[in-house]
Amino acid sequence: MKRTLGTCYYPEHWPEEMWEDDARRMAEAGLTWVRIGEFSWSKLEPTPGDLHWDWLDRAIDVLGNAGLQVVLGTPTATPPRWMIDRHPDMLAVDAEGRPRKFGSRRHYCFSHAGYREESRRITRLMADRYGRNKFVGAWQTDNEYGCHDTTLSYSDAARAGFRDWLAQRYQSVDALNRAWGNVFWSMEYGKFDDVDLPNLTVTEPNPAHAQDFRRYSSDMVVLFNRVQVDEIRAHSDAPVSHNYMGRITDFDHFAVGADLDIATWDSYPLGFLEDRVGADDAHQRAYARQGDPDFQAFHHDLYRAVGRDRWWVMEQQPGPVNWAPYNPAPLPGMVRLWTWEAFAHGAEAVCYFRWRQAPFAQEQMHAGMLRPDGKDAHAMHEAREVHRELAHAPEVAPTQAPVALVFDYAADWAWATQPHGAGLSYFGLVFDHYKALRRAGLSVDIVPASRTDFAGYKLVLAPGLMHLPNGLRSALAQAKGHVLYGPRTGARDKNFAIPSPLPPAIDGLEVTVARVESLRPDMPVDLKGGGAATGYLEELETDAPALLATKEGAAILVGDPAQSYCAAWLDADGLDRLVGALAGLSNLEVRQMPEGVRTRRTATEEFWFNHTVHPVETPAGKLPPAGVLRRTL
Ligand code: GAL
Repeated sequence: MKRTLGTCYYPEHWPEEMWEDDARRMAEAGLTWVRIGEFSWSKLEPTPGDLHWDWLDRAIDVLGNAGLQVVLGTPTATPPRWMIDRHPDMLAVDAEGRPRKFGSRRHYCFSHAGYREESRRITRLMADRYGRNKFVGAWQTDNEYGCHDTTLSYSDAARAGFRDWLAQRYQSVDALNRAWGNVFWSMEYGKFDDVDLPNLTVTEPNPAHAQDFRRYSSDMVVLFNRVQVDEIRAHSDAPVSHNYMGRITDFDHFAVGADLDIATWDSYPLGFLEDRVGADDAHQRAYARQGDPDFQAFHHDLYRAVGRDRWWVMEQQPGPVNWAPYNPAPLPGMVRLWTWEAFAHGAEAVCYFRWRQAPFAQEQMHAGMLRPDGKDAHAMHEAREVHRELAHAPEVAPTQAPVALVFDYAADWAWATQPHGAGLSYFGLVFDHYKALRRAGLSVDIVPASRTDFAGYKLVLAPGLMHLPNGLRSALAQAKGHVLYGPRTGARDKNFAIPSPLPPAIDGLEVTVARVESLRPDMPVDLKGGGAATGYLEELETDAPALLATKEGAAILVGDPAQSYCAAWLDADGLDRLVGALAGLSNLEVRQMPEGVRTRRTATEEFWFNHTVHPVETPAGKLPPAGVLRRTL
């Protein structure tokens, strides 16, 4: 595979006289890809049925004739204003019951059948017109499903759809009552149409109800996407992609990804550090111009799994963005580092968002590769540098890492439904384990809970899977490498009830979780030898010797060379010790990284990245701030 670069362009934002020069400069900068179209519906169809393809025909021609390949986006993330007159009830409704208004984007409810059909119609027209266009090298459906909190909608359409979904799942309302335990608080229903959405209840709704609504809502995203994919495939052989976001977990990306050829994601390291990594102030300050050293890598590995090894960065932060609480500029060299980091994790392409900074509307404060006056902005220089470096880099192939980390969206919903303590999230737990693995210099594959084969992995981590599906249970039991379970593994059955026997109920692990508690942030429980349990702690009933224990002697990690169970959410020191213990059990070599330095290995290359503002000594040599080292193995 050859690694390529690209950008995101909005021909509809610029006078047509500029297109040719823009296209020429893109090609000259070494870009291969240009994504267009994803917000252009009001230009394509200014009034219902009045279609204007001419400008898009010409834009694709101009870009293609300059040597670029177009990624054509369906425009469904931004239904035009007239669409709301046609379908006044298509707007998503928030948990407070308020419709979300027109005037920005993503203002649709995934459950609305009328809007889904409008999306099918515009996608069909677009695919019919451009499906065989030689310049259209790939497709993108919609834009960032779930962004701006748009997966869960409490609309009338969602209520009706949810009732149907429940009827199909449970077949009889008695079965639903039993599965959810509705005898509790007299919540029993007489018919499916009695069931409402789980918002605006006096106190918390039944968790089984909430969890099913999340499953349903995720299915609606899958369906919405599938409708578009089917239309595109009927007219085009080009690969179909979608651009996912950072830390959006409220729909099953693996399920959406199963219908697509390529997973892409939008990487905004500095914006994310400010608004969603969840780090403390000192860390945010230390990495304000570089981004968190693991957050992007985590998503690279996650989306590599979602794309079954075919994945891109569709939008790469090029400079300050507009949407985080604070929007600093990247340290010189970071745009290059982020690009190489994506390639180190197997990206086929990295595209910078956006080509030219827009002088109007919401994203005026968002940098591009060009300034609003068309002169090169900082990112352009770094992109050119990567392009020059790519000329000397070999082609690469996907490789399996020695460590697998299971990530399951349904587990994230279960934690969100029943966190048991403020701030406790499945994403946070898995990400903390990932960071510890990276601090130990390990390369990681993220894998879905549907994985049936763990051959080739020396170590498999499956923390926090509140429900352990049977397929995964047996796949993990057959894994040749060491498997880590816990905390909370198998804590709920598929109906969100506490199972019997008590969890984790893993064959060969002589452990029972006798009690669980959540901890205030100011009440860590120290481990003997360093580190602490924070947030979440289980009391284990076991006769097995503890590999890690609290100062009071309570078992935290128990197990044998084949499998182990960890009874707590550990802090960073505790997780470093956990990874050390697991590496010992699985014969993995660990190399503790200097602060802010990360490494990744593929079959043929080893990369080193310095995410700090200081020069650092690494086992591979000295790295300047924002330095990247790539060596062939
Ligand atoms: C992304 C989005 C882009 C643009 C960008 C700004 O989330 O897909 O359209 O808004 O953020 O950073």
